[in-house]
Amino acid sequence: MRIERTSHSKIHEIDFDNLSFGEIFTDHMFVCDFIDGQWVDPRVVPYQALQMHPSASVLHYGQAVFEGMKAYKDDDGKVWLFRPEDNHARINKSASRLAIPEFPKELFMNGLSELLNLDSDWIKAGLGNSLYVRPFVFANQPAVSATASNQYQFIIICAPVKSYYSGEVNVLVSEKYSRAASGGVGYAKAAGNYAASFYPAQLANKEGYQQIIWTDASTHEYLEESGTMNVFFRINDKLITAPTTDTILDGITRKSVIQIAQDAGIDVEVRPVKVAEIIDALKDGSLKEVFGSGTAVVVSPISGIGYRGEKFTIAPVEDSYAQKLKNSIIDIQYNRAEDPYGWRKEVVLVTA
Ligand code: COI
Repeated sequence: MRIERTSHSKIHEIDFDNLSFGEIFTDHMFVCDFIDGQWVDPRVVPYQALQMHPSASVLHYGQAVFEGMKAYKDDDGKVWLFRPEDNHARINKSASRLAIPEFPKELFMNGLSELLNLDSDWIKAGLGNSLYVRPFVFANQPAVSATASNQYQFIIICAPVKSYYSGEVNVLVSEKYSRAASGGVGYAKAAGNYAASFYPAQLANKEGYQQIIWTDASTHEYLEESGTMNVFFRINDKLITAPTTDTILDGITRKSVIQIAQDAGIDVEVRPVKVAEIIDALKDGSLKEVFGSGTAVVVSPISGIGYRGEKFTIAPVEDSYAQKLKNSIIDIQYNRAEDPYGWRKEVVLVTA
């Protein structure tokens, strides 16, 4: 792999205590091109603007998918990834649905580890600090014919981050706008899924909600996911979450939460979640907690739900499942606890 180091690092200009999520990027990026039916020229180069034709297919038809993962540094300076093979498998699942060629696992893992090696000083130790890693692939054939591109670029960039949400998270149940329909691309991390969510999210913001909670597109009777998160509901002592279907993202944090909760003896039901059931549980007080899960947020409590003009508040509970599950996951991610699942993967740092 070709490695080109930056001649001047930006790291000393960064205020690591005041980071807005995903706005500052490290010194390097990993790039690989798909040309003539093959992935070629994998390289780590200084972070830089891309050169693209105005006719590049992604700009017209949105043929692009991405992943979100995080690297963590423990107190001994070791760097860790959380279930990276799952991110690799998922970007290929997303890619296939968008007619994008799959990216080889070895290149993905090697590219990632070369990049993290060069930029390891950007990963700060300490709970709450991490490096958000964004692999993505997009169509860059210079052609506006509406067919799958024959050229692509796979890139990984990295952003030092702290928490995703800075305050309360209130969500608005959407019965008008849909995120995904059966047979569509809802299960993929397709760029367009996120683009399509921004307008309904803006409308929700105007009503004082940070995010939308989506219902299924055909009946609007079932709750699916919220913003960039899968969603969990605690009714009395039971945890309920929707199954992953072709409209719901197969969240890596989601499945980790389910596993950890079950192993902690929590009763977890993975089944369709009716809006009516949650509203009833809000009214009769049996809804104890709602929280989202995702790479960026890890586990994020939801404090209020808006439904048909009414706002329901979810009062904080003592010994919340959300906090307990979050602690268990971050203890694994930051190498502060045993990892009985083999989820944590060390990035072996090679000093130059
Ligand atoms: C994630 O949490 O999985 C994400 O990819 C978040 C991102 C859309 C900001």
